[in-house]
Amino acid sequence: MKAQISPSILSADIGNLDRELQMVKDADWVHVDVMDNHFVPNLTWGLPVAEACLKNSNLPVDVHLMIEDADRWAPAYAEAGCQSVTFHAEAATAPVTLARTLRKAGARAAIALRPATPIEPYLGFLEEFDMVLIMTVEPGFSGQKFLIPTLEKIRLLRKEIDARSLDVDIQVDGGIGRDTIAMAAEAGANVFVAGSALFGAEDPAAEVGVLRDLANRA
Ligand code: DX5
Ligand code: ZN
Repeated sequence: MKAQISPSILSADIGNLDRELQMVKDADWVHVDVMDNHFVPNLTWGLPVAEACLKNSNLPVDVHLMIEDADRWAPAYAEAGCQSVTFHAEAATAPVTLARTLRKAGARAAIALRPATPIEPYLGFLEEFDMVLIMTVEPGFSGQKFLIPTLEKIRLLRKEIDARSLDVDIQVDGGIGRDTIAMAAEAGANVFVAGSALFGAEDPAAEVGVLRDLANRA
């Protein structure tokens, strides 16, 4: 299983989005964090920025919706052409219905869990999702420290996916960098979001390769 890197533009210089996207063009995805100041105590942007990424980068767009009422807002991102749409389990009334709607609109459907949200209730529904995002920090801000206790949840999910030979990716988001990516990979994650570790690096383009290698060697 090859590691995939998804740079989060939350840590990019948003005024120079084209240039920033160009720097990480060898990544596998571009991660767009949508926050509504209700589900999380921070506010970012919405559909227009996801559309700007679709237009200005050849990378597929990986939208991470940290918003309430995901059932209502998520489908528009799939309809706009975002290749992967992640909504939070805690913010969706009917996660299975929503995942089916997203897939029908042509996107990969993904469900995200906050650090303290258990995975067990969702194990029976894994077939409905293309990816599960295990948050490794509380969602809302970049630059936070990786929460070690989330590793257990990643291990359990990896065991279940492998035992049932499911085609479901495990994404991790929050505090991923040179010192943590191997731990997350060893636990079973295969898609890695990185914000500050990438855009804060001396050479973001090279850092994509460094992180990918560390994950692949774990
Ligand atoms: C946080 C966002 C992340 C954030 C990660 O809620 O979901 O995608 O950009 O930033 P780092 O990699 O700096 O922890
Ligand atoms: Zn994110």
